[in-house]
Amino acid sequence: MISSFKARKGILLAGGASVDRIVRAAGSPAYIYDAEVMRRQYRRLGKALPKSFRLFYSIKANPNLSVVKVFKKLGAGAEVASAHELMTVLKAGVSRGAIAYAGPGKTDAEIELAVTSRIGAINVESATEFERIVAAAERTREKANVAIRLNLDYYHDDGAGGHVMAGGARKFGVDPDMAEKLAIRAVKEKWVRLVGFHLFPGTGIMNPQILAGSYKALADYALRLAEKHQTRISYLNFGGGLGIPYKDGEPELDIHATTAVLKDTAKELRRSKWFKETMFVMEPGRYLVGPSGVYISSVIDVKTSRGKTYVITDGGIHHALIPIVMNKSFPTALVNRMGEKADTVVRVGGPLCATPDQFSREVMLPAPKIGDLLGIFNSGAYGYSASMLGFLSHTAPAEALVDDGRVYIIRERQAPVMGAKKRLKI
Ligand SMILES: Cc1ncc(COP(=O)(O)O)c(C=O)c1O
Repeated sequence: MISSFKARKGILLAGGASVDRIVRAAGSPAYIYDAEVMRRQYRRLGKALPKSFRLFYSIKANPNLSVVKVFKKLGAGAEVASAHELMTVLKAGVSRGAIAYAGPGKTDAEIELAVTSRIGAINVESATEFERIVAAAERTREKANVAIRLNLDYYHDDGAGGHVMAGGARKFGVDPDMAEKLAIRAVKEKWVRLVGFHLFPGTGIMNPQILAGSYKALADYALRLAEKHQTRISYLNFGGGLGIPYKDGEPELDIHATTAVLKDTAKELRRSKWFKETMFVMEPGRYLVGPSGVYISSVIDVKTSRGKTYVITDGGIHHALIPIVMNKSFPTALVNRMGEKADTVVRVGGPLCATPDQFSREVMLPAPKIGDLLGIFNSGAYGYSASMLGFLSHTAPAEALVDDGRVYIIRERQAPVMGAKKRLKI
C-alpha cells in the first residue's frame, strides 16, 4: 500500500490522530491532510537540489490557505495562476519577490494586480500578453518583473511517463524564436524588467530523464541568449511536474537522478558572468502535497451485479475527480479496518448518476460493510479544488489538517448554493 500514514488498532492515523474521529467531527466525506508529510516532501526535495535553488509551492495543487502557510513557514515561495491564488499567497505572507504568476489567459485585471503587487516574476505566455503587461505597468506607473515562459522542443513523445506540456504547438509559453524577440524588446522597454526565463515541462512525470531533458534545454537556451545579448539573468525557473506513484507497487520518482543534472547545470551557469546571482527555482505542487492527503468517504451500500461487488460511498468524483482525469486507481483501503486481509475484489463507486463516478475500478479490500470508511490515498494534490463540486448538488466535503498533533478544520462542509438571484442593471 502506498501511503505515508500509519494505523493503530486497525484505524488509520493522520499525524497521530484517528481518522474516524476526524470524520465524525468534520462530517463525511472529508479530505484529511498531514502537515508533517508536506514538510517531509519539501525537505526531501530541498536536500536533493543544489543550494542555489529555491522551492516555490505551486498552490494550484492545494490552494487552502492553511496548506499554503505550512509551506510559507518552511521558507517556500509560491507559484500562482489566478488573481485569487495571488491574493491567497499574499495573505499567507509569502514574500513578494518569491512569487511567480504563470498561466495562459491572464485578464487585464489579473495582470494589473500582479504588477501592483510587485511580485518577482510575471511569466509571459504570449507576445500579446507581453504587450498587455507593458500597458498595465505604464497605466499603474509600476515597473513589472517579467520572465518569459518558453515552449522548447525538449521532448516529443506525449504521454510517456507523464503529461508533457512543452514542445510542438502549445497554448503554453512562447516558441523559441519569438521568445528571443520578446527578450530583446523587454530589455529595451521602460516599463518592464526582464528577470529571466521559465520552462514548465509537464505534470505527473515519473521519468527522471524527461525532467532532466527539460532542465538542460532551459539552461542551454538561457545561457545562449544571455551571452548573445549580454543580459544578466536574475531568475531561472525550471518548473514542477515531479510525479508521485499512484498504483500499488509503482516505484517512486528517483529524486536524486532527477536533480543530479541540476548540480552540473547550476555550476556551469554560475561560471558565466550573466548568472552569478541568479535565483534558480523549482515550482512543484503534486510532489509536495500529494502524499499528505487522504480522501475519506463512508460506505452507504454494498451490492453485487452479475458477480461483481460494488461499494457505493457518499464520496465520488464530484469531490475527487483526479483519479478519473489520470485514469488511475488510487491506493484505496478501508481505513477503519486497516491490517485486515484484503481478499475481496470490489469496484468503488460514488453517488453520482454518471458511469465514470467509480474512482477505484478493481481493488482488493476486506469484504466491505455498510458504515465502513473508505480512504483514497495520495489525494493531497488536485483533489478538492480540481473536482466538479457542484455536480448533483451534494454537500462539498470538509478539509482537515493535522499539524503537530492538533486537528484543525481548514474548510467547513459546504451546502450547495441554489437559486441565488441578482438583477443586473444593464
Ligand atoms: C506553470 C505551472 N507550474 C507548476 C505546476 C505544478 O505542477 P505539478 O503539480 O505537476 O508539480 C503547474 C501545473 O500544471 C503549472 O502549470
